[in-house]
Amino acid sequence: MNELDGLVDSARQRFAQAATPADLENAKAQFLGKSGRITELMKGLAALGVDEKKARGAVINQAKQAIEAALTARRQELAEAELQAHLKAEALDVTLPGRQRGIGGLHPVSLTLERIEAIFGSMGFEVAQGPEIESDWFNFTALNTPEDHPARSMHDTFYVEGGPVNAPNLLRTHTSPMQIRHAVQHVKKHRAALDAGRAMPEIRVIAPGRTYRVDSDATHSPMFHQCEGLWIGENVSFKDLKVVFTDFCRTFFESDDLVLRFRPSFFPFTEPSAEVDIQFQRGPLAGRWLEVAGSGEVHPNVVRNMGLDPERYIGFAFGMGPDRLTMLRYGVNDLRLFFDGDIRFLSQFQ
Ligand code: PHE
Repeated sequence: MNELDGLVDSARQRFAQAATPADLENAKAQFLGKSGRITELMKGLAALGVDEKKARGAVINQAKQAIEAALTARRQELAEAELQAHLKAEALDVTLPGRQRGIGGLHPVSLTLERIEAIFGSMGFEVAQGPEIESDWFNFTALNTPEDHPARSMHDTFYVEGGPVNAPNLLRTHTSPMQIRHAVQHVKKHRAALDAGRAMPEIRVIAPGRTYRVDSDATHSPMFHQCEGLWIGENVSFKDLKVVFTDFCRTFFESDDLVLRFRPSFFPFTEPSAEVDIQFQRGPLAGRWLEVAGSGEVHPNVVRNMGLDPERYIGFAFGMGPDRLTMLRYGVNDLRLFFDGDIRFLSQFQ
């Protein structure tokens, strides 16, 4: 065994020890690189005579080829090992059940809104939609809440750009502006009948939608939902409000013995005003009074702003919280869960 056989052997060993392609390339440099062992030997040839150079050159070349062959073989081994590791990591278990396409569904609050619309629809109520960016007039002033009225501070309002300087536009703080918007449209449609002193078809409408207030905790979100209700006719009394709202709540909660309480309250746009509380007779919430809506007989000033004569037209309005109704119906105790968008929570309602 000559000196070069030893060199080839040590190259094979080094290559075998290389565990990664990068290791192997480093090992290669020691033998075949610019200052590697083989290259050094080649340089040594320069000092030899012609015959000697020929003989020795052939031996070195043989050794070089042997080292190159060992390198190629090891390269393939490492590549193969890498491929196997990769395949193993990606192992596909064809016996696993297939991944199903998730079936989407409606958000729990949307389910509630649909339910509200269906129930009031069955009682002859239309559904109206309106803008979420509202003017000061519709959100406050037309609702008998002029500038500087203390009741304005009950709503922590998000103001936005646009509108008169002293009365900027805002994100509607309730759906009550829809009372005015819808009534004005209705009156316009029936102007001729009104002018001729004939009766106008009653206004019977609900207006569900998003509303906004600067508020955030377990039971308040800066964006929340409300659903307004309005019934205006020639003889629509507080008694009708009680009948309609009681009917609605009992149908909504599928509970015939649900008890309602109309608790005296104040809203600038209704007189008299009441907050509506409900009480379940059975189930986990039984016995507690739970507030679900504000309501009242529409204030004469508001009837006037609708373009109607308050001596002739009268009716009730209410504003309820569909988010709250959803929480009560499903037993959810944190409002924010509805708006976090966590699929684990939302998929429970499908
Ligand atoms: N808009 C009132 C609120 O958001 C609720 C309400 C509506 C009260 C209609 C009376 C009549 O608090």
